[in-house]
Amino acid sequence: MRQIILDCDPGLDDAVAIMMALGASEKIEILGITTVAGNVGLDAVYQNARNLCSLAGREDIPVFQGCPHSIMGKHVRAAEVHGSDGVGGVILPSSTREHDVMHSVDFIVDTCMNAEDKSITICPTGPMTNLAVALIKAPEIEEKIREIVFMGGVAFGPGNCTPAAEFNIFADPHAAQIVIQTDIPKVMMGLDVTHQTPCTDDRLNELKAIGTEPANAIAAMMEAYRRLVMSRDHGQNDCMMHDPCVIAYLLEPDLFSGRHYYVEVDTHDGVSHGRTLADGLSVSKKAPNVKIMEKIDDEGFYQLLYKSLRDLG
Ligand code: RIB
Ligand code: CA
Repeated sequence: MRQIILDCDPGLDDAVAIMMALGASEKIEILGITTVAGNVGLDAVYQNARNLCSLAGREDIPVFQGCPHSIMGKHVRAAEVHGSDGVGGVILPSSTREHDVMHSVDFIVDTCMNAEDKSITICPTGPMTNLAVALIKAPEIEEKIREIVFMGGVAFGPGNCTPAAEFNIFADPHAAQIVIQTDIPKVMMGLDVTHQTPCTDDRLNELKAIGTEPANAIAAMMEAYRRLVMSRDHGQNDCMMHDPCVIAYLLEPDLFSGRHYYVEVDTHDGVSHGRTLADGLSVSKKAPNVKIMEKIDDEGFYQLLYKSLRDLG
């Protein structure tokens, strides 16, 4: 059983990740969902996370609001991909859960400090501001974290936010560097692997065929996601299941293959700002600090996603 904190910015693919994790409750215990400004602003991501838990019939899951912008004060958003509401205009049930008033950073710190050593898995699927601030506020939580499995970065391909940088890292490169430089075991689900997971027509039809309320909502979100991405990229790109790769790794790590590399984030201004620079040929002689996933069994991933949604009911 993985005890996780899912730190996210829902976000259409974050929504799939949340549903996938909730559908796999026999393997994943979500201790809490911490939200961070990213795809859309803080209020929207927070409300979306609460409403997604309601959609799944899991209003028992605590949801927290976190940092409203990057460490350096940037507000980088992706409403052109996720819609102005962050969920592609899809109507979700409104949560009736009492608001959880603790800050995301404090929830991360308190949960870790009250846990056994190496017992908590942190799953960032948005900018890593909350986790970075928690590590600064309470460095002793490092001992409590089993693994950080994050969606972000791109090691050996083009960025999707700038030619050099992927969105989550570009949105807060300083936070990403603070996280990556720790000694905590880290797995990077970058565009290198998430770009192998297109939600094709056949796969969208499989989602629609499940027929449950959560699956219908996810299918509607994926239709919106495809429409938005296609119109932004003039039909060049399909919508990718970036964030759910994090959850799939927790459930079936053998779907993935990758290697350990030394990674550094470019925090300087300029064309490479936010780039996750991986030392592919080990020329720096610096010790590897991240396992970068490079291949996925994408059909196996989708079968796991369908199963998780069916099990969610
Ligand atoms: O680059 C993809 C990432 O940016 C995903 O996490 C998506 O939700 C956006 O946050
Ligand atoms: Ca995200």
